[in-house]
Amino acid sequence: MIIIPGRNYIDESIELANKLGAEILSVKYKVFPDGERYVRIENSEKIRGETVIVSNTMYPSQNDSFIETIMLINAVVKAGASRVIAYIPYIAYSRQDKIFLPGEPVSAEIILKTLYSTGIDCLLTIDIHSDHILESMGKCFYNILVFELLFDSIKNILNNPVVIAPDKGALSRAKYLADKYNLQYDYLVKERDKTTGEITIQPREILVENRDIVIVDDIISTGGTIAEASKRLTEKGARRIAVCASHGLLIGNAIDNIKKSGIIKIVLGNTLGIRHQDPFIQYIDVSVKTASVLKEITK
Ligand code: R5P
Repeated sequence: MIIIPGRNYIDESIELANKLGAEILSVKYKVFPDGERYVRIENSEKIRGETVIVSNTMYPSQNDSFIETIMLINAVVKAGASRVIAYIPYIAYSRQDKIFLPGEPVSAEIILKTLYSTGIDCLLTIDIHSDHILESMGKCFYNILVFELLFDSIKNILNNPVVIAPDKGALSRAKYLADKYNLQYDYLVKERDKTTGEITIQPREILVENRDIVIVDDIISTGGTIAEASKRLTEKGARRIAVCASHGLLIGNAIDNIKKSGIIKIVLGNTLGIRHQDPFIQYIDVSVKTASVLKEITK
């Protein structure tokens, strides 16, 4: 088995290769004077007849990462791989998974269709925003959830917490974690203004008084959702509140805003090509789960 590390995810891809006993082939990256991208896989003669995993993530520099990833896939196909698997822990544009306002595209569909049409046999990702769009492709995919790994690192600072989804869309995530640890779970009702993006969380009867809370979500971007959820839960008498999220973009003042909302800790998967250096944030290596899925599908 061979792993091709994408520019956004080199160390993590090496870690995955170590867990799998796979060989890593280096890639030369270049930007042409006009801004176009170039990739070349070194020692590509080793690819013929092999199972090859292209491992890259799509944040930061979503657009460049996307084009480099599909160029790597194309190069692997051209070099004669017998099976091509894309491992893209964070798939950008996944939140535009439907037409919210007339005239919009379904961006998530474009990304997925392009990945499959470039020649992958299977796609592995971590907690895509909505898996219905993956399912609708009718192709091989694994959407890996890692909340138990994230929660494991904070379970000692919370007493029998209630797992809370900040909106109904995240309820399956809350249920997933609650079922693993035999916890109670519930959800909040979030509304987002389709034009301004402003978030409000509507009142809803939910029993959190004097309870510790773990909020679960796929993505923290501006932190608005998590901060708003924390404020509403605190109003209802919640005690300590921590967050487990698969992907922490944490744009601009997100970290400060989340801290101000009363949250004591954020645990994130190492799914992106950035790390925020703040003791408030803890990263968990998700490759242990990816490696076990890859072992299963390639045996
Ligand atoms: C939305 O439905 C997602 O699951 C996240 O809740 C959202 O993307 C978080 O964005 P922000 O941190 O900007 O509120």
